[in-house]
Amino acid sequence: MTEKKTDVIVIGELNVDIILNEIDSLPVIGKEIMAKSMSVTLGSSSAIFASNLSALGPRVAFIGKIGKDNFAEVVLSSLEGKNVDTSHIIRSESLSTGATIVLNYNQDRANVTYPGAMNDLKLEDIDFGFLSGARHMHFANCFMQPGIRHDLIPLFRKAKELGLTTSLDTQWDPEEKWELPLEELLPYVDIFLPNMAEFKFLSGCSTIEAGISKLKKFARIIVIKNGSEGALMWDGNDLSEQPAFINDTVVDCVGAGDSFDAGFIKDFIQNLPLKSCLETGALTGAINTTRAGGTGAFENQETVRKIALERFNYKL
Ligand SMILES: Nc1ncnc2c1ncn2[C@@H]1O[C@H](COP(=O)(O)OP(=O)(O)O)[C@@H](O)[C@H]1O
Ligand SMILES: [Mg+2]
Repeated sequence: MTEKKTDVIVIGELNVDIILNEIDSLPVIGKEIMAKSMSVTLGSSSAIFASNLSALGPRVAFIGKIGKDNFAEVVLSSLEGKNVDTSHIIRSESLSTGATIVLNYNQDRANVTYPGAMNDLKLEDIDFGFLSGARHMHFANCFMQPGIRHDLIPLFRKAKELGLTTSLDTQWDPEEKWELPLEELLPYVDIFLPNMAEFKFLSGCSTIEAGISKLKKFARIIVIKNGSEGALMWDGNDLSEQPAFINDTVVDCVGAGDSFDAGFIKDFIQNLPLKSCLETGALTGAINTTRAGGTGAFENQETVRKIALERFNYKL
């Protein structure tokens, strides 16, 4: 067998988050209000996944589309700072890098997103020669990527033909139509990673049991994330439950699902038992909640191990 250069290639959306904290009130048309602090960080679920997976050890590369602007530099430097290979991120001359303005008010938030170049990533943009140099392909946030969302079947089929294992985290559908051809797509997806609400909408079933019994005919492994309740896994034969690691002082839950995915896939590509993948996912999901934003707790392997031990008494 030829040696693979990359462990995981992530295909997905890229943008920046402009986070305004402690705003005076909700925005009012025609008026100006002030925020007490601001940060500009790497946004987008696929990028948080890639960044955190790389911090956990595996060699990670990214395929996505951005512009040639200042926000593109934020995206690239953040990913490169975490050792993610950005050589296959396409830089469009004509499109801008997207951004989400996050307005944090009291305990809640209002977001406004301009998707920008992420809208334009297409199947034709994927370098299959590059993909074939990886062991695993992860795709995230399909509903936010209209240029490629209708080509997921050929994309995942090709990845399987090239011998990769695959995972999919659909994320939320902002249009709430939940149109995804699961019956044709899931046979090419090794690990399907929705959260509880997404699973119910996607399966069209109001209970887990009904949803699993509908999807199990064509799905392989289904992992359903359920916030502070933990997660459930259908491994092809049985349904198992993974309690959450208790965090009494949650900073925020931004990116918890992406960090869960990162922990799960880290173990999966090492061929560890699925129960171990599930437990590591729950751990990295919980670790995510100990610091601000989606990547705050995932500086490097050492920090993650330290948080695992000190906060969750777990040796990672
Ligand atoms: N408050 C929390 N305490 C501990 N673990 C959490 C908490 N919130 C999320 N997690 C972990 O992170 C995982 C993903 O979070 P979840 O909110 O379900 O996903 P998503 O961000 O995709 O909606 C959960 O399955 C759980 O294991
Ligand atoms: Mg999610």
